[in-house]
Amino acid sequence: MQPPPGSSSGPAAVPSAGAPAPGAFPGLVVPDHALLRHKLAALRDRETPSAAFRRLLAELGALLTAEATRDLPQEAVRVATPLAEAQARVLPAEPCLVAVLRAGLGLLEGARSVLPEAPVGHIGLVRDERTLQPSEYVVRLPPGLARRGAIVLDPMLATGGSAVAAVARVKAAGPAWVRFVCVVAAPEGVARLLAAHPDVPVLAASLDSGLDARGYIVPGLGDAGDRCFGTE
Ligand code: URA
Repeated sequence: MQPPPGSSSGPAAVPSAGAPAPGAFPGLVVPDHALLRHKLAALRDRETPSAAFRRLLAELGALLTAEATRDLPQEAVRVATPLAEAQARVLPAEPCLVAVLRAGLGLLEGARSVLPEAPVGHIGLVRDERTLQPSEYVVRLPPGLARRGAIVLDPMLATGGSAVAAVARVKAAGPAWVRFVCVVAAPEGVARLLAAHPDVPVLAASLDSGLDARGYIVPGLGDAGDRCFGTE
């Protein structure tokens, strides 16, 4: 990773040139966290090999899941420490984690490290070349979602087509709430997802400038699935 010309020890990160301020989307949260920026910088670097890319994606999955669950309702309990009784607060039920295949699997690993009891679902979507709409090739969601919320994981929120479809599929299973976690978001994808699902908060490590002609996020990080699984 090369420092930009003339840079020294200034601020760790600046928004992508041309990206709208995150405040442009009231439903979008971009946490202000040095570790997120640090790991995202390495993830973006085209020289980062696949094994490191996978590890970074998992670490970002853990950090972003911690942010996405920051304000979940908790219930008061009493626990006995080795010394005394303590008041404590726990989640009534860990939320379900839903990975959008393939690249969502990279985030899932880290998300599970902080929510080890969470039931897990998978949604696989491909673009139908005739209709240009996302079409499902696999959907496996755990039962009993009504008792808990669901966090949908997909590192790249690009056009938003898959995200809208994945969230609709999860909502149909009746969870108490849904949140969407990604690493890099394009303004087009955020706008489309929030328009279709205004009740679903979106959490991203970065809001980038936009999409190129092929629908890749710019500056983005390339194809997250290929980089994660070494298929490029
Ligand atoms: N999916 C990716 O993996 N990368 C992009 O830039 C857009 C969609």
